[in-house]
Amino acid sequence: MVIIKPDGTARRRISALVLRALLDRGYTVSAFQEMKVPEPLAELHYAVHKEKPFFPWLVEFISSAPVLAMILEGQDVIQGVRDELGATFVQKASSDSLRGRYGIWAGVNIAHASDAPETAEKEIQLWTTKGGLKIEPSAEERASAYIEKYSKGTADYTMQIRDVVKRAIEEKDTSNAVLGLLKDLFSRDSQGISALDTDALAKAVFSFIEEEAEK
Ligand code: CMP
Repeated sequence: MVIIKPDGTARRRISALVLRALLDRGYTVSAFQEMKVPEPLAELHYAVHKEKPFFPWLVEFISSAPVLAMILEGQDVIQGVRDELGATFVQKASSDSLRGRYGIWAGVNIAHASDAPETAEKEIQLWTTKGGLKIEPSAEERASAYIEKYSKGTADYTMQIRDVVKRAIEEKDTSNAVLGLLKDLFSRDSQGISALDTDALAKAVFSFIEEEAEK
């Protein structure tokens, strides 16, 4: 089970590049759907983190704007996807991994991927029963069409967004100007995603900055 999170999906070209890098490894796509994650589904998906201090933030973040939910299949797919994504924490991800290249900061890390066969089974069960994710033959074609549609051009605001987040945390700057910059940057390559959603994503990233600034 792979989920390109709101920070990936709202940057259309980046999500297409992430998807392409994963599929270039030769996996089969058996489900592929863009959707807003309802909070109850987010809470169930991240139930293992329920006691962690960042749990409420995690739910806010993943349900802020659409995600791309998918099921990938193939030889050693779990390890392969995790290798391609790199370390969970963006600052710890190597610079040639997807999170190292396109991640924003800390847990704003572009994608979630199941970490073991048992969790994959549980997550697929959850997303297909409670999330409306459908296993269907057209998934492969729709994933390819997504890459075709959005991978063109040069749009990549990773460095700008990272700089805003990094500077705001370092300087403990939680002014409205920071939120405004994030709203603008997340809207720039967000075709088909409403301003309400990209604003909610910006707000979720801003909440993270506020929490870090308090430390
Ligand atoms: P994911 O692979 O989706 O699984 C759990 C998520 O929690 C992880 O990616 C990050 O997005 C997030 N996460 C983990 N640790 C922290 C943390 N200390 N602060 C904020 N978010 C975190």
